[in-house]
Amino acid sequence: MLDRLGTKPNDLRAFWMPFTANRHFKQAPRMLVSAKDMHYTTDDGRKVLDGTSGLWCVNAGHCRPKITEAIRRQAGELDYAPAFQMGHPIVFEFANRLVDIAPEGMDHVFFTNSGSESVETALKIALAYHRVKGEGSRTRLIGRERGYHGVNFGGISVGGIVANRKMFGTLLGGVDHLPHTHLIEKNAFSRGVPEHGAELADELERLVALHDASTIAAVIVEPVAGSAGVLLPPKGYLKRLREICDKYGILLIFDEVITGFGRLGTPFASDYFGVVPDIMTTAKGVTNGVIPMGAVFVKKEIHDAFMTGPEHMIEFFHGYTYSGNPIACAAGLATLETYKEEGLLTRGEEIGQYWEDALHSLNDAPHVIDIRNIGLVGAIELEPIPGQPTKRAFSAFLNAFESGYMIRTTGDIIALSPPLIISKAQIDELVDHVRKTLKAID
Ligand SMILES: Cc1ncc(COP(=O)(O)O)c(C=O)c1O
Repeated sequence: MLDRLGTKPNDLRAFWMPFTANRHFKQAPRMLVSAKDMHYTTDDGRKVLDGTSGLWCVNAGHCRPKITEAIRRQAGELDYAPAFQMGHPIVFEFANRLVDIAPEGMDHVFFTNSGSESVETALKIALAYHRVKGEGSRTRLIGRERGYHGVNFGGISVGGIVANRKMFGTLLGGVDHLPHTHLIEKNAFSRGVPEHGAELADELERLVALHDASTIAAVIVEPVAGSAGVLLPPKGYLKRLREICDKYGILLIFDEVITGFGRLGTPFASDYFGVVPDIMTTAKGVTNGVIPMGAVFVKKEIHDAFMTGPEHMIEFFHGYTYSGNPIACAAGLATLETYKEEGLLTRGEEIGQYWEDALHSLNDAPHVIDIRNIGLVGAIELEPIPGQPTKRAFSAFLNAFESGYMIRTTGDIIALSPPLIISKAQIDELVDHVRKTLKAID
């Protein structure tokens, strides 16, 4: 139920909030009622600078007119069309426009509704691909410690965040993990990609020796781990992973749900690192976060391997009611136009040096034990309060919101990923806010 103004829920009990300290929140709610460009507005009329693009998704900033208008128009024209055995023009057009900006050779797109679904889809494509190629023994999936691949069973199985895994039983069988690449003792305060740790990719050789390549279907990693606190790949690490996968016929999946659509200053992280995976998962920025959608990109050889057998038969038994939903596609096309018109997919490259210098100016702020940056992403790692992990960063998050800006925290790490339209003055404002917050908290 809403109040007279239609803004303030007066009963917060029914909604079980995701990834939220529900009881804490409901005692002192933080309510957002509108947004425009770089700012949210709270229910008490305060402006809040968005330092996180919502949840790493609103890359072009909020309530962009072209996107809003496209959604409005499409909702009045074709609201829904069955996703199975039927088509509608805009879904084909959107797939083509996505392929136009995708890394070389990634020329087919499978639509989903979220990052988690993109991950499940990618894992299923990988398993089924080996089977249609006559290598059905390749069933093992390799993830990485501290990886985040959404919250569904495949994703948490290959993921490596213990809190997301430990409550949910035995997960998928036949999964193993590479070590994470966060070597703070060697790489602290690196600017951009860190020097040390490429050899961690060789751990894949060890897993191959343990399990045998004939049992391994795919390796999935985030090129830059986002949700675990912005963990960057050491120089040369991703190239090495690619080489080892090639050597053993293992598919390489990049989870680009966060890094896709300009976050690193290139359209995809694959472009940034010069490494092309076999399958690439995306979501979030594909529609500027406005309508739920995900897109899985695959190489031609993978897609074509399925296109055998009688032509009246379904080639891949997978899909969602809302795969390629017309309104999501309209939002996505308008998003791509906005990115293109404003050069947003490469803006992180232009403004990246300014961002890096601003962030690293916090190296003498209280509690800071590491600062990391790449494109328009940043992380400030804090010394945890002894015996109370996460408490310091959570205090920073609360202080930030009170002070008029939004950050994300994970463990004792502050993550920043502002909309790609952020100005230099707003970068200064954000960093200034962070410094004040770090001084204010215990
Ligand atoms: C790398 C990565 N994969 C998957 C997901 C899951 O996306 P969603 O929350 O849309 O299911 C996320 C979300 O943050 C992500 O960062």
